[in-house]
Amino acid sequence: MLRRLHPNQPESFAFTPANQKWAETQLTKYPEGRQASGVIPLLWRAQEQEGWLSKPALEHIADMLGMAHIRVLEVATFYFMFQLQPVGSVAHIQVCGTTSCMICGAEDLIGVCQNKIAAQPHELSADGKFSWEEVECLGSCSNAPMAQIGKDYYEDLTTERLGEIIDELAAGRVPTPGPQNGRYAAEPLNGLTSLTEYESGRTQHNASVALANSIGDTVKRIDGTEIPLTAPWLGGKKRKSAPKAAPKKAAPKATTKPAAPAGKAKKPKVRKTARKSGADDLKMISGVGPKLEKLLNSLGFFHFDQVAKWTSEEITWVDENLTGFKGRATRDNWVEQAKTLADGGETEFSKRAKY
Ligand code: FES
Repeated sequence: MLRRLHPNQPESFAFTPANQKWAETQLTKYPEGRQASGVIPLLWRAQEQEGWLSKPALEHIADMLGMAHIRVLEVATFYFMFQLQPVGSVAHIQVCGTTSCMICGAEDLIGVCQNKIAAQPHELSADGKFSWEEVECLGSCSNAPMAQIGKDYYEDLTTERLGEIIDELAAGRVPTPGPQNGRYAAEPLNGLTSLTEYESGRTQHNASVALANSIGDTVKRIDGTEIPLTAPWLGGKKRKSAPKAAPKKAAPKATTKPAAPAGKAKKPKVRKTARKSGADDLKMISGVGPKLEKLLNSLGFFHFDQVAKWTSEEITWVDENLTGFKGRATRDNWVEQAKTLADGGETEFSKRAKY
């Protein structure tokens, strides 16, 4: 399925103050310079806030993390859990259409969505309250057919029951998730055949449903004020370095620039040509292909020992001058690889690349 940005985009995106604080606090989980690891939680919180991910939201998060915008777009377009178009203001319904659910009536459930919401998936209903899509197996096959609505599963669905659920949601109520046919969990339809002694000790709902009920955010947009912000990994103390500042320092508002190491750029020593013995095969450095090798040669780099000597300021210069490949020297740690190769050693990559 083609996943791309929606043609109609909002002017801007901002986290709510509480969500912004939450996002900045999440970034303290990661070592300095590794804030990109927080991309999925931040994207998810942006989606929890807005219902979907707009281009300004992706760019805002990329800038927070010091990532190139394209890198964040890659993540958002890869994972189907991210919605790239507006969803219903009340609920987005994800009907499982994979084997078990299909055999048990998923197509009829999709028919309900088409009748009550919109003819096409990802299309908003006339009142803007609902949208729907067909998704792959959600791992609840023994309770087929089922649908995920907001964050929770509605299982053992019938067309009638799905219609009622949509009506209840439209009326501002949130139906209890879980099996909709009286089953407790995923036991046989006719009741337990083993472990029957545990039946009497059951709570009203299975653990997933009980938790969903207690959290109560099935279809709610999250503004960050719902749960007090805690950061147990900080041990109750604030980090010395502000989490916000680190990624900004790493890569300012660049649209395509990856994070560059701190410090000024300084041009390394270059050569007009390779030594008489001939140029090294720079493609033995992981991340350097034929194009990059040509580019490096044109900049005056022909040998592993040249690359191995780059200082951090010189790496910055190289990264900035790799037109079309900016940031690769840092990203793929060329200097460390080149040190090994210049000493006559092999890297994991060079071993493989020779064959
Ligand atoms: S086939 Fe529908 S949940 Fe697995």
